[in-house]
Amino acid sequence: MTAYTARAHTNIALLKYWGKADQELIIPTTSSVSLTLNEFYTDTTVEFIPDLPDDEIVLDGKLLSGSSNQKVIHVLNLVRTKANITTKAKVISTNHVPTSAGLASSASAFAALAGAASKAAGLNLTRSELSMLARRGSGSASRSIFGGFAIWNRGTNDRDSFAHPIDEDVHWPIQLLTVIVNDQPKEINSRVGMQSVVATDPFYQAWVDHANAQVPAMLTAIENHDFQKIGQLAEANALQMHAQNLMATPAFSYLTDTSWIIIRLVQRLRQQGLSVYATMDAGPNVKIISMPADTAKILVALKEQLPNVKTTVATPGPGLEIIKGHHI
Ligand code: DP6
Repeated sequence: MTAYTARAHTNIALLKYWGKADQELIIPTTSSVSLTLNEFYTDTTVEFIPDLPDDEIVLDGKLLSGSSNQKVIHVLNLVRTKANITTKAKVISTNHVPTSAGLASSASAFAALAGAASKAAGLNLTRSELSMLARRGSGSASRSIFGGFAIWNRGTNDRDSFAHPIDEDVHWPIQLLTVIVNDQPKEINSRVGMQSVVATDPFYQAWVDHANAQVPAMLTAIENHDFQKIGQLAEANALQMHAQNLMATPAFSYLTDTSWIIIRLVQRLRQQGLSVYATMDAGPNVKIISMPADTAKILVALKEQLPNVKTTVATPGPGLEIIKGHHI
């Protein structure tokens, strides 16, 4: 069978997905809104090979095993069921993320896998169907099928929980400056972290209600190209998500001392008149939502306080691309 290669870019949630209503199907408790980035992408080639005894998954040159392997096989099984085949596959995947950036790659990884595996199995899925399939690997991957701004409507079942494009052709000035924080706290992956919050946070339902109410406000802000409103909503939503982690039992936090130095710096720059906002995911890195014209000022302020810190700058990026690949 023909091999196919897909490229998907990562996305950063401006309104976060933080909890599942259905853990098996990966149906979220809230809708989420994201920006797909031009940096940080995954290239994945899939070929279904007759007589291959088992699925073989190679990530960044290493043969995968354990739970990441299981997640990939889970998506391959869904594809096989849809295509009515039993053939095993070889999957070769490469993450293009700056070394030690510590950025999550599951969004780009499962979007690329959904694209390459479905094509290689002879399926021609719509982008909505690709989003549903990517979602079954990792929730945030549902949004990486689309470029620019996307919304994952939470839905209630396997067929109505998928992402839609909001504005894929984003030329207006918005960027995400990632500040790479090296003091890694104890690793709690997002799947475990959000489940612990859903199960133990006494204020979780209030967070869900509030987060769902932020969605229409964010859509209006994007439609109006209202950068400040987008930033304000994104920062509030991110801090509220991280507050839930402190409400869980046992309480946990992804944010370290350095994360807070950067968050406070962002707040200070705002007091000085700059339009800059912070967002954080399941790790200590802080992403600064800003306008490209302010990059130099932000970097000067950052270097003053944290001279050795590394940064990367990303702008809006494209959705899933699939090309016919060579035999593996
Ligand atoms: C904080 O999509 O990695 O980045 O569905 O369990 O694989 P699973 O979780 P994942 O969670 C992402 C959480 C987040 C917020 C977001 O991207 O919306």
